Amino acid sequence: MSVYSASVTAPVNIATLKYWGKRDKELNLPTNSSISVTLSQKDLRTLTTASASSTFKQDELYLNGKLESLESARTQACLGDLRKLRSELESQDDKLEKLSQFKLRIVSENNFPTAAGLASSAAGFAALVYAIAKLYELPQDMSELSKIARKGSGSACRSLFGGFVAWEMGDLENGQDSKAVEVAPVEHWPTLKAAILVVSDDKKDTPSTSGMQATVKTSDLFQHRIKEVVPQRFDEMKQSILNKDFNKFGELTMRDSNSFHAVCLDSYPPIFYLNDTSKKIIKLIHKLNETEGEIIAAYTFDAGPNAVIYYDEANEAKVLGLIHTYFNQVDGWSKADTSKLSKLEIEGTDP
Ligand code: DP6
Repeated sequence: MSVYSASVTAPVNIATLKYWGKRDKELNLPTNSSISVTLSQKDLRTLTTASASSTFKQDELYLNGKLESLESARTQACLGDLRKLRSELESQDDKLEKLSQFKLRIVSENNFPTAAGLASSAAGFAALVYAIAKLYELPQDMSELSKIARKGSGSACRSLFGGFVAWEMGDLENGQDSKAVEVAPVEHWPTLKAAILVVSDDKKDTPSTSGMQATVKTSDLFQHRIKEVVPQRFDEMKQSILNKDFNKFGELTMRDSNSFHAVCLDSYPPIFYLNDTSKKIIKLIHKLNETEGEIIAAYTFDAGPNAVIYYDEANEAKVLGLIHTYFNQVDGWSKADTSKLSKLEIEGTDP
């Protein structure tokens, strides 16, 4: 009996305009549009192989060698959508093997620590959806597939593209217009770089899903963010990318990270993701930019204390040099810890 299989890799993406809040939990529809930069697969990626065979007894998922449950409603939503698309193809062409009726075996591996708070669910769901789509030979383009990955994890929809990516929130109730689109390919701004500062690799305090639900329910500031702040920032940030205007891009990125952590603090009870080291990094970057008289480095923090710093290659020595010096001075950090600073490339278009 044949086993059919396909392998893909999907990269991690880091939002510069944050997704935080769902207007529909089942379909994973966001309360605002977001923008991200996709990081290099050389550094952070998920490798997934999807196989189907009539001999498989049940759907199975192995994550980093461990058998994991496929029961979650999110995973089931992705598998259901993909099988439906495959069975539509099969009904149009009866020479096609009935893969939609076979059980699936999915083997997934991250080349970075899953618990390090480095957006592993985004790469994970993007790779899962893309691998099965490839196995099923689906004709849908990446934006179409992003609507399926979105149901796995919101931020995953953006990992189907390289370079600079927008997730348009859409306004339809069925979510058919809530999808990822390319803002610009990586070649557009090849000198933009990112560095990850791993402040802590502990598991998150409050998972993103429950954190954002609490914010939507309890924060007053949140309404201001989604209605007044983000819609304008979305257009401005896209423009700053198209213009390769680091000064503007950096300012908007830092402001949006701060706005996101402000609505977390305004949730009741408050949600804290930044720790003292994160705050010292924020101060350091502002001090550097002040000394330079322009923005040459920009920080952003997701649902955890680790920082991602964006900068232009031309300023690499200045930015990373300062961070290295500084890291060696922070309590609890020693020279050996500088390995926790990873310098990353931005990823190309084809995942
Ligand atoms: C702070 O995509 O992990 O990283 O849709 O519930 O799976 P779910 O949430 P998730 O949230 C990511 C939140 C963020 C911001 C972002 O990536 O845009």
